[in-house]
Amino acid sequence: MLVARTIHALRTALAEKRSAGRVGLVPTMGNLHDGHLALVTAAADECRTTVASIFVNPLQFGAGEDFEDYPRTFDADAAQLERHGVDILFAPGVDEVYPDGRADTVVVAVPGLSGLLCGADRPGHFDGVATVVTKLLNMVTPDRAYFGEKDWQQLVVIRTMARALNMTTDIIGVPTVRAADGLALSSRNQYLSQDERRVAAQLHRTLIDIREAVASGERDFSALENQGCSALASAGFEVDYVAVRDAETLAEPRDDGRALRVLAAARLGRARLIDNLRLVTG
Ligand code: PAJ
Repeated sequence: MLVARTIHALRTALAEKRSAGRVGLVPTMGNLHDGHLALVTAAADECRTTVASIFVNPLQFGAGEDFEDYPRTFDADAAQLERHGVDILFAPGVDEVYPDGRADTVVVAVPGLSGLLCGADRPGHFDGVATVVTKLLNMVTPDRAYFGEKDWQQLVVIRTMARALNMTTDIIGVPTVRAADGLALSSRNQYLSQDERRVAAQLHRTLIDIREAVASGERDFSALENQGCSALASAGFEVDYVAVRDAETLAEPRDDGRALRVLAAARLGRARLIDNLRLVTG
């Protein structure tokens, strides 16, 4: 596995490989777990050359969020990526990605979607994500790029951006990898105390309860959202939202047969946890 720290080194390495077949990209912020590795495995299965990136993107962290403390475990990450079939690890510094400094950087914004749900609680977050993902896609120009369904809103923002900006990369969603009790794997789970970790699985169970109610015919989505919020609050969470939405647009559901998703975000101690599930209405 080659480690490229600059865009020039990345492009030089890719120039030789591109003609051999499909190039896949897995963008990450490092501190890898089995969720990230599922993306890498999907890319390595489908692509001739797999590029993974590790870049903790300052632009997507708000004031008071954990940018400085975000866990950085480069050596262990690199070893895992190599074992899972990555050919090129792209790990640029902040100056390589934002040479003009944060204040003067050109920003990609996805209006509407970026202000909903997690965007309401984290202003500017999705513009930061859209900007860095655009840059990574332009640096690597992969045929396919892989993102986790765990961050469903992020996946919707990226798909919408790629379509709107006529990008040629196919955006591939990979199912959420979970711990045995259902908690979605996340780098931020390590902020949970032992007691909080036991409670955390309630987030997934709450979404399962909503999925089951919808599967058995319940269509009062606001009532389900309210019940979900109460269940989480009683378990000790501070709830940001529980929302049933159109899976592709994140708009409020209408009775028009479109695919639905239930999404939730809630804080437990220092950790802000998110999760989502597909709803079966048919
Ligand atoms: P990060 O949180 O490191 O996640 C990198 C990728 O791994 C994302 O696509 C995320 O959805 C996916 N992922 C995380 N946990 C997962 C799980 N339990 N199951 C499946 N996939 C999972 O998301 C980001 O970084 C950044 O916003 C990024 C896209 C890299 C832009 O900076």
